[in-house]
Amino acid sequence: MAMEYSIAQKLNDNTSKEPITFTIPSEEGNYKLTLTLTDGTQIPVNGNITVNSTVNTYNLKLTMSDGRVVDLGNFETEEIGEIIMKYIYGNWKMNSDVSTATTFATQFNSIFTNPPNVEVMIAPQASLIMLLKEKIASGVKIGAQSCYFENSGAYTGQNSCTAVKSCGATYAIVNHSEQIEYFGYTLDRGNKETINIIANDMIPIICCGEKLEQRERGQQFCWVEYQIRSLLQNITANQIQDAVRIVYEPIWAIGTGKVCAPTQAQEMCAHIKAVVTSMYDEPTGDSVKILYGGSMNASNAAALLAQPDIHGGLLSGASLKPIDFNNIINIAASR
Ligand code: PGA
Repeated sequence: MAMEYSIAQKLNDNTSKEPITFTIPSEEGNYKLTLTLTDGTQIPVNGNITVNSTVNTYNLKLTMSDGRVVDLGNFETEEIGEIIMKYIYGNWKMNSDVSTATTFATQFNSIFTNPPNVEVMIAPQASLIMLLKEKIASGVKIGAQSCYFENSGAYTGQNSCTAVKSCGATYAIVNHSEQIEYFGYTLDRGNKETINIIANDMIPIICCGEKLEQRERGQQFCWVEYQIRSLLQNITANQIQDAVRIVYEPIWAIGTGKVCAPTQAQEMCAHIKAVVTSMYDEPTGDSVKILYGGSMNASNAAALLAQPDIHGGLLSGASLKPIDFNNIINIAASR
């Protein structure tokens, strides 16, 4: 099956037009997109590229892993901007071990095609980060489930950004509801962790979301806004542009099989974007990637990912099964 991709038409003067779409013939193996400028300069396309509006024509080529090149044609400057990325992240929680993580990697690597428009990340337990980094396909990024806000010291039981980074993690989850419920994490701690993750050049994956009682009382929007404002305190627009992910995880949908309706999830993700925009400005609000988490699986992913302000998903249950996880990545790739 051929795959269809969209490229948003966004120039560096921030004008945007309708996205253009093109079809890539389906082939086995990894591939990457390269923009070749008229002067021969090549730019790998992996998400965000801003083109210089003084250059008029671009040629888009698909370079296959075996070296073959498929010419996708020439485009005018205003037609090329950035590939619309989706973000599929796995949170393994306190699951897996050396043996099952190795088996996961072998099975996953044999089916994963590394679609250029999907950023894939897995956060295993800290003790498995190094192993997974070594075993899993190189297109998969690795994250930590938690990083304390100091880089070293007498903090028994904690993991530091510097240590997990040296094992291969470049992402870290913050404020997951299970850390709040079982380990007494606070928004103040989450804010300090976010600041330190950014200072270590890692990407924070900031979770927020309401309990069922809060939704029943109609408090979900103000609670999520309060969480976002607290977690992003003292962080500048420059620091968060393109460098932060926010995940809306309604607590009542985590691990319960009760998925939030796509329209409900969209409503909250649009609200999160509006909160970030009101704290900073429109480009910052646009640059923050917003994900949904809570019983996302291969049957509901397409409807959730079709929502305009849902850029991806954070999955736990489904991320532990190589076939399911890969299916969701492929669904994201075809959105
Ligand atoms: P779930 O967990 O996909 O198993 O519902 C999501 C999460 O807690 O991040």
